[in-house]
Amino acid sequence: MNKLALYCRPGFEKEVAAEITDHAANLGIFGFARVQEHSGYVIFECYQPNEADRLARKVPFNQLIFSRQILVVSHLLENLDPTDRISPIISAFDKLSEQVNFQQSTTLFVEMADTNESKELSTFCRKFTVPLRQVLRNKGWLMADGHQKCGLFLHCFFVKPNCCYVGYSYANNHSEYFMGIPRLKFPSEAPSRSTLKLEEAILTFIPRKEEEKRLNDNMVGVDLGACPGGWTYQLVKRGLFVYAVDHGKMAESLHETGRIEHCAEDGFKFQPPKRKKVDWLVCDMVEQPSRITNLIGKWLVNGWCRETIFNLKLPMKKRYQEVMQCLENLTDMLNKQNLIFEIQAKHLYHDREEITVHIAIK
Ligand SMILES: C[S@@+](CC[C@H](N)C(=O)[O-])C[C@H]1O[C@@H](n2cnc3c(N)ncnc32)[C@H](O)[C@@H]1O
Repeated sequence: MNKLALYCRPGFEKEVAAEITDHAANLGIFGFARVQEHSGYVIFECYQPNEADRLARKVPFNQLIFSRQILVVSHLLENLDPTDRISPIISAFDKLSEQVNFQQSTTLFVEMADTNESKELSTFCRKFTVPLRQVLRNKGWLMADGHQKCGLFLHCFFVKPNCCYVGYSYANNHSEYFMGIPRLKFPSEAPSRSTLKLEEAILTFIPRKEEEKRLNDNMVGVDLGACPGGWTYQLVKRGLFVYAVDHGKMAESLHETGRIEHCAEDGFKFQPPKRKKVDWLVCDMVEQPSRITNLIGKWLVNGWCRETIFNLKLPMKKRYQEVMQCLENLTDMLNKQNLIFEIQAKHLYHDREEITVHIAIK
């Protein structure tokens, strides 16, 4: 019980390894990350007993940027007998349950990595969930109230058809989604697929019970790099009036709402219209991350908006270092003005070579 599994987009394993190593070191926990490139996950082995469990509880999941899920796992169960995979899996769960109370468990996820090779495991995993769940329930597990935030999720993570880790995650410090991926349906009336990036960002960064208060029809938004309008669509859908800044063409359907003004201007020079209080700034311009960071910092420091969601396009190399540098620079800019704020960054499922950042001034 001394390993963590962390899921991610394939190709970002090194970033996950770097971030968990940093967070662990901050807690005085040391170990090493096993990285297999393009596998879609990282295994972090702690040197001291029981520290994986401490990491799963103490590393704030919402501060992990590249990790989609964090769970404590067993050793790798290999060469599972196709006629009886369940017995060794139950034994491994039994071993884990010596340290944590699985009577607190609510949910079972039988998962695989988010890679093309693993796709063929998905049908198997779905079917296998049913008998495994039944056996776990017979042990008195998975019976706790699903809404309790102190509960546990049980995971069975298949890396090959006869090869898996078993583990658990803490419901108050994990992704609530299967494979750590929120499944969103593309709204057919949205002008572009990138609409899903902002939808996922809102889902990730704004607690559902606060969404109406934080995004509503009394509010004004600015969308820098708006065309053809996928992000503007998300704001308009929530009632905001949006200044859509871009030299390109906005979708006609958005003009028809009467809730946008298209400003064919440079997003780096645009300023909020006089006597208009802007609540939200969103920005999806493809630019160097340091330029975007400075731009967002300028808006926040000048008090031109109170809340923002923006993308940072990642460089080819040293992606983790570049992201950390940008976030540090931005934090310094805001601290210098004594602003009280919350900042969170995530490599969302709908992000590719970019991350999404949210800042709210308090
Ligand atoms: C990735 S697209 C945005 C997609 C948009 N978020 C959507 O959901 O439909 C980037 C946009 O940024 C715009 N852009 C790039 N540099 C800009 C600048 N300096 N000022 C304004 N727009 C810019 C481009 O014209 C392009 O339409």
